[in-house]
Amino acid sequence: MASLRSMELNINGVLHAVTLEPRVTLLDALREHLGLTGTKKGCDQGQCGACTVHVDGERVLACLTLAVQAEGREVTTIEGLSGEDGTLDVVQQAFLEEDAFQCGYCTPGQVMSAVACIREGHAGTDAEIREFMAGNLCRCGAYNGIVAAVRKAAQSVEGATA
Ligand code: FES
Ligand code: FES
Repeated sequence: MASLRSMELNINGVLHAVTLEPRVTLLDALREHLGLTGTKKGCDQGQCGACTVHVDGERVLACLTLAVQAEGREVTTIEGLSGEDGTLDVVQQAFLEEDAFQCGYCTPGQVMSAVACIREGHAGTDAEIREFMAGNLCRCGAYNGIVAAVRKAAQSVEGATA
């Protein structure tokens, strides 16, 4: 039987003690052990972006990250973006307003990438947005809405900090 490893994971500001096999991915730890199913599993091979989360503020693919690698770091998932009272993050709001999804399966990953896109200053033009978001696939083809949402959210973040 595989050995188990106890660890503490800081997810959305809350510490969770879990005991897992060392080979368990962050994605499976979130979805199957912590009940945080907002982060989606698409390909499970680093090719679709559905599992995008942030670790210490940088986006990572949770299917290519081991849970043990997240120990001692701050993980943010889609569940951690909205306010405690349910207020949507500016990016989530923009996705709603711009109809940036159809089935919604890719949306949590798109939103997490979009937050990083804006925070890291890659939302200056539509071409820049498309390039930064290129790893997040959308089988429904909602790309125009997604770019529009990122542009809108970037403008409102800029407006708020100007
Ligand atoms: S599920 Fe991780 S990139 Fe597709
Ligand atoms: S909205 Fe369906 S996969 Fe993107």
